[in-house]
Amino acid sequence: MSKFWSDVVHKLTPYVPGEQPKLDNLVKLNTNENPYGPSPKVIEALKLEAADSLRLYPDPNSDALKLAIAETYQLKSNQVFVGNGSDEVLAHVFQALLKHDKPLLYPDITYSFYPVYCGLYGIQYQLIPLAKDFTINVEDYMQPNGGIIFPNPNAPTGIPLALTEIERLLQKNTESVVVIDEAYVDFGTESAVTLINKYPNLLVTHTLSKARSLAGLRVGYALGSPELIEALTRVKDSFNSYPIDRFASAGAIAAMQDTVYFEKTCKQVVATRKGLIHDLMNLGFEVLPSGANFIFAKHQSRDGAELTNLLREKSIIVRHFKTPKRIAPYIRVTIGTDAQSKLLIEALAEILQ
Ligand SMILES: Cc1ncc(COP(=O)(O)O)c(C=O)c1O
Repeated sequence: MSKFWSDVVHKLTPYVPGEQPKLDNLVKLNTNENPYGPSPKVIEALKLEAADSLRLYPDPNSDALKLAIAETYQLKSNQVFVGNGSDEVLAHVFQALLKHDKPLLYPDITYSFYPVYCGLYGIQYQLIPLAKDFTINVEDYMQPNGGIIFPNPNAPTGIPLALTEIERLLQKNTESVVVIDEAYVDFGTESAVTLINKYPNLLVTHTLSKARSLAGLRVGYALGSPELIEALTRVKDSFNSYPIDRFASAGAIAAMQDTVYFEKTCKQVVATRKGLIHDLMNLGFEVLPSGANFIFAKHQSRDGAELTNLLREKSIIVRHFKTPKRIAPYIRVTIGTDAQSKLLIEALAEILQ
């Protein structure tokens, strides 16, 4: 608290990111990073970028990156918006498209940055409870609203929603923007990108932090109709003209173009996930169905907070959410390598003995 702070700052409840511990030799399974490094082509592109041209500003419109993303999805460049991580893209989305007189709707259990943006921009919202089995029921969103947002697969549950359900919602909800946050979609969930040319109020957000192994580069994007993209560009050009620096642009373009590497690493993560779920169930865990690079699991007799602390003593970091209460029994575990899964399972077996 300080007399120098503005009113808005006094009232903010900032987002708390997952811990980035400064210790070596940890098995770090807490922030859904990819266990595999970025494509070697990304590293090459970054090396080339370390040059005299760094004295010049980057392209404020990121045209080359937008084109690479548009080509990936057979869209046009004016259907692509890029930003400094999808968190920045989402921030602009909340301000540009989700602030209206009617409340924004999103699930009661979801990405915990959404209420933070609502606080920052003064957006009123209504929480829509997930069903008992933690799934999203699209019927619940068919009511007057100023916008709808949820991740698919949802976070931190990892549960995917079928594309047919998303289309059912879009058919009914035509008067406000529907945002599908597809941060984790590439790990086995159906993408709504294929519906973009059909529904002008659909916006899909993606990140290069997860499936493209580039959390450290900070690049995310949104895909939608030109009129939605224009709104985001207007906010961006009133905030920061150059959110994508020269490294981010070069690295992201190389990552988008190396489809072979992307598909190979995603497949490996999905295979490891399958094995991990199997082993956790053998240890008495209940694991929610996952279409993401993480799983949400609870043990029949041990509490989520307790397990998180005990794993930490063994240098394994997973994520635990104290609230809402309904998810407190669970731990969220990022899918690592097969070797990391093995260490996790061995540690849990010892703890549960
Ligand atoms: C659902 C969801 N959306 C968006 C993001 C933001 O990712 P980034 O800002 O790294 O692109 C995350 C990060 O964990 C997430 O879980």
